[in-house]
Amino acid sequence: MSAGRPAPRCYVARHGRLTPAQKRALETLGPRYLLAPPSGAPLDPASVFGHPGPLLVEIGSGNGGFLIAQARAHPERPHLGVEIYPPGLGHSLLEIARHGLENVRLLAEDAALVVETLLPPACVERLVVLFPDPWPKKRHHKRRLFRRPGFPEALARVLVPGGRLFVLTDAADYAAEARTLLPAPVWEPTTFEEDLLADARSTPFALKAQRRVQSLTALAFRRREA
Ligand SMILES: C[S@@+](CC[C@H](N)C(=O)[O-])C[C@H]1O[C@@H](n2cnc3c(N)ncnc32)[C@H](O)[C@@H]1O
Repeated sequence: MSAGRPAPRCYVARHGRLTPAQKRALETLGPRYLLAPPSGAPLDPASVFGHPGPLLVEIGSGNGGFLIAQARAHPERPHLGVEIYPPGLGHSLLEIARHGLENVRLLAEDAALVVETLLPPACVERLVVLFPDPWPKKRHHKRRLFRRPGFPEALARVLVPGGRLFVLTDAADYAAEARTLLPAPVWEPTTFEEDLLADARSTPFALKAQRRVQSLTALAFRRREA
């Protein structure tokens, strides 16, 4: 992040109510699939996944609908979900176990911190953000993830050259703003792959959003080769 005042926090820590099954999953499956809270050292994808990467990362993986669907579709690829909401993590763990997936891990940390400090350079092939919090009140816009000073640069750092960024949102104004924050010398527009879009539109959150707004906005960018 750039020097100066610390950036405002871009998420609300909600704890929610864990079901007994989610609580059990966090206790019993957490040690295996939930990466330990960071000690400040960068994540080492090869030791976490037993696979050199690059990783497919989802920020704000929620209940894991998209993450699990993609991990099932691409069992040979390592998937990382970043999420701070315990019931979402518990639900995702149950789904990982139900499908016997060994190519998924979860990280319970603020995505800004993960991208800015925990992921090593050029370790992500695709980063997906579905329904980032739009912080609709004008005075809260400064909390938007893509507006965070240094965040777009950190995204470019963790993606491999040619790596892709996909964002889907129901907040058209946030999408327009995010577009302006991804400058042309670094980012070039690309297309949202059909299978990604189909999975992204199918989570319970996405289905609800599609009943609320006329259309969703999809952003797809490719990080240019250096
Ligand atoms: C609107 S929900 C969308 C969930 C999921 N992507 C979907 O489409 O169903 C946004 C999710 O992002 C998570 N989130 C928001 N800000 C975050 C941050 N800074 N770090 C990690 N997770 C975050 C929230 O806890 C929430 O689960």
